[in-house]
Amino acid sequence: MAWQESTKNKMLRLELPTDPRWVDIASISLEAILVDHAYCEQKAASSCISLIIKFPEFDEMVDVLTPVVAEEWQHFESVMQQIRKRGFKFGFPRKDNYVAQLQSFVRKGGSRKDQVSELLLMNALIEARSCERFKLLSKNLEDKELSVFYHELMISEAGHYVNFIQLAKKYQDPEKVENRWQEWLNHEKNVMKDLEIRGDRMH
Ligand SMILES: [Fe+2]
Ligand SMILES: [Fe+2]
Repeated sequence: MAWQESTKNKMLRLELPTDPRWVDIASISLEAILVDHAYCEQKAASSCISLIIKFPEFDEMVDVLTPVVAEEWQHFESVMQQIRKRGFKFGFPRKDNYVAQLQSFVRKGGSRKDQVSELLLMNALIEARSCERFKLLSKNLEDKELSVFYHELMISEAGHYVNFIQLAKKYQDPEKVENRWQEWLNHEKNVMKDLEIRGDRMH
């Protein structure tokens, strides 16, 4: 397991690890973090749906992402069950500064393949960061059920991360993808560095 996890960390290649204070605050804001997480899963599902709608000509992407939509919606359903069984209240979504700042980095223009691979990389990055944070929750939450829950989600999101990267490399020269991925990682590092640490946000 230790080997698997260290491999996973290297694989994610995030430039800046999450500030350890985040998981401490998140642990004592379970209701808020679960509600925010539920919306993250909803957005993950809708992001895959919108890729399928915007780029229906890319068969392999459509075929890979179609079951991912169902998985993300299943994650949403599971988070909602965790919210309900604890008597927590679901509510309106909060402003997602993290995703907004990633979206502003999306390069416009170019070919259809350029556009799709750019969006695939943004999705890969959100999966990578979510995966890192789920791991922290899984290791630090005292609630054993949630700890197991986040471990399972971490594995699932790591799989999605791999899907997105592999698809990007299918539609774009892999070397170009690697270079652009490094630019995305650098951008994400700066976003994370300046983002307020809040226990009621998954990101
Ligand atoms: Fe998910
Ligand atoms: Fe995912």
